[in-house]
Amino acid sequence: MSYQNLLVEEHDGIVTLTLNRPKALNALNADTLKEIHRFFGTDYRDRTDIHGVILTGAGGRAFVAGADIKEFLGVANDGNGEAMAHRGHEIFFLIERFHVPVVAVVDGYALGGGCELAMACHLRIATEQAKFGQPEVNLGIIPGYGGTQRLNQYIGKGKATELILTGNPIDATEAHRLGLVNYVLPDREAAHAKATELLQTIGTKGPIAIRESIRAINAYYENKEGFAAEARAFGNTTKTADFQEGAAAFIEKRKAEFGGR
Ligand code: HXC
Repeated sequence: MSYQNLLVEEHDGIVTLTLNRPKALNALNADTLKEIHRFFGTDYRDRTDIHGVILTGAGGRAFVAGADIKEFLGVANDGNGEAMAHRGHEIFFLIERFHVPVVAVVDGYALGGGCELAMACHLRIATEQAKFGQPEVNLGIIPGYGGTQRLNQYIGKGKATELILTGNPIDATEAHRLGLVNYVLPDREAAHAKATELLQTIGTKGPIAIRESIRAINAYYENKEGFAAEARAFGNTTKTADFQEGAAAFIEKRKAEFGGR
């Protein structure tokens, strides 16, 4: 099993999956998403001998800085924004419904699709350098990989609304206070060690009980209509002049001037 954008290491039943596009701050492009899909949906789907996955990002600056803006501008211009969101939902559900726990180790930026990816994991361990946020409004779009649904689930409607409407990021301490992350550790090694410790503890429990716990916890939150509404709204925002301006501003490294069209 070989991957272009993922590194996979396995020790004592714990698999560390590292997203490896550090020059683009591990932004999620279509190829990386395909590989994540293959990992959770095919390659490791039937691996009942493992008891957990640690998902992290390479390079020390970011977990994931979002969907790859330069690439998805093209997807949106072809009118496929809504389909792109649906596809992301499908892949992130594979993670959320995986038969063993997936722990995100977040060091640096977890923004947009990166925050959404961390939220699709079962547990989140942050370093003190971690930053979480849904900055899509800065581009004239909305979260499209489940952020409007899962941020509510973790931190409640009021604070989720504030973060999504302002686009303001929060640091690890605040993310911990709000319940978005389970633990904050000083650095990457310590965070990885904490994730390993949690997965080792979970690995001593009955595997069927763990799998069924995940299934039952997820059942409380399944809201297909919410996700479909998000995909539609995301698709609509990708068709606007505002998104063209927001994406151009990002690429040109300047502030966007939105006209509401
Ligand atoms: C593509 C990205 C990127 C992204 C960073 N890069 N984020 N490329 N997509 N999401 C690239 C930059 O273009 C740059 O490439 C390199 O990574 C380093 O980034 P810099 O901006 O130079 O670094 P810095 O000044 O330290 O700022 C870091 C940052 C900033 C604050 C994280 O990069 C940023 O704001 N990124 C975008 C965050 C974002 O808006 N995420 C949400 C995306 S929308 P070059 O070639 O210039 O060196 C989304 C929607 C999901 O996720 C739903 C889809 C359905």
